[in-house]
Amino acid sequence: MTTNRLLEPIRMGPWNLRNRIVMAPMTRCFADDHTGVVGQDVVDYYRRRAADGVGLILTEGINPSPRAKGTFGIPGLYNEAHVEGWTKVTDAVHREGGTIAAQLWHVGRLSHRELTGGYPPQAPSRLRADGLVHRLRKPYDMPEEMSTTDIQEVIEQFAQAAKYARMAGFDGVEVHAAHGYLIDQFNSEVTNQRVDRYGGGLAQRLTFMKELLTAVVQEIGIDRTIVRFSEIKDDLPGYKWSDPEQTIQTILQAFLEIGINVLHPSTNRYRESLANGMTLHQCVRKHWRGIILGVGNLDPELASAEITEGTIDLAAFGRPILANPDFVQRIRHGQMLEPFDPHRHLNSLI
Ligand SMILES: Cc1cc2nc3c(=O)[nH]c(=O)nc-3n(C[C@H](O)[C@H](O)[C@H](O)COP(=O)(O)O)c2cc1C
Repeated sequence: MTTNRLLEPIRMGPWNLRNRIVMAPMTRCFADDHTGVVGQDVVDYYRRRAADGVGLILTEGINPSPRAKGTFGIPGLYNEAHVEGWTKVTDAVHREGGTIAAQLWHVGRLSHRELTGGYPPQAPSRLRADGLVHRLRKPYDMPEEMSTTDIQEVIEQFAQAAKYARMAGFDGVEVHAAHGYLIDQFNSEVTNQRVDRYGGGLAQRLTFMKELLTAVVQEIGIDRTIVRFSEIKDDLPGYKWSDPEQTIQTILQAFLEIGINVLHPSTNRYRESLANGMTLHQCVRKHWRGIILGVGNLDPELASAEITEGTIDLAAFGRPILANPDFVQRIRHGQMLEPFDPHRHLNSLI
């Protein structure tokens, strides 16, 4: 049997990862809903994945401010109590030889004032999303169009969260610029109708993301910053980029300007062709020399083949790692994986 390429170590900037297996960021809603502080159950949940041998853990989305919140039980990283809670997680992961980055997540308009401290959700433009807020089951609220002062404030909140991440012992951060949340709302023509310097053509709409990344990088370092982006938007099923390859090239140009090295392009269907006969990851690879994380309904064999092919460098797994707290050991020993079952695997932190 040939060894799975996933099990090979990789050096990424300051990180010596034990292998190329990444735990995808997954919201679990187990933080204290009022304080956003994580408890011992969350410590144990991440510790188990590190003890199993996962190379890089990306946390669930973490809010850099109270108005960034989009559902119940989301953890925060904007005060000292948050830092204290997360320090217990990073200590536990490091004791097991793991590496862990915090995903920073602002939902923008995909929320409701009942979740955002009584204030309307923040967005690039005053456009209400279609659909219901996760678990609150009420229609998305009408957002407030962010002023340039609001924009500066949110950028500072992300930078402060990156600083807190460092204080809490995280090895890095992942900026969540995907899936139709705040940063993606600025990036997209559907949700950004601004006429100031944060709106306009695609390159201009990326201004918010670029300023935010610059501020985050200043706090935590370029080689400790991963960025996630996507065509898929949680509130716009079936949304497609009109010229995918050109869109990808323009987005990559923005990352190049900042000096970002590690990208996490997100799709739910890794094999699906998206741009001129190429998959998302193939198209990114065509135009990107840095590190690429693959994701999207991958299985270990396909992930290994894609690493050999050179399309990706590491592979992230979401649901399989929830269903299999011993995911890495199963790959190592060639064992079958437990299939993911939302009823069994989402209701508790196994
Ligand atoms: C329960 C659950 C929660 C998720 N939460 C997040 C999140 O907080 N941030 C994010 O970027 N993606 C989130 N995702 C998407 C995953 O990171 C991943 O991209 C997706 O599950 C596809 O990978 P998979 O097919 O291996 O599960 C979530 C997925 C699941 C199943």
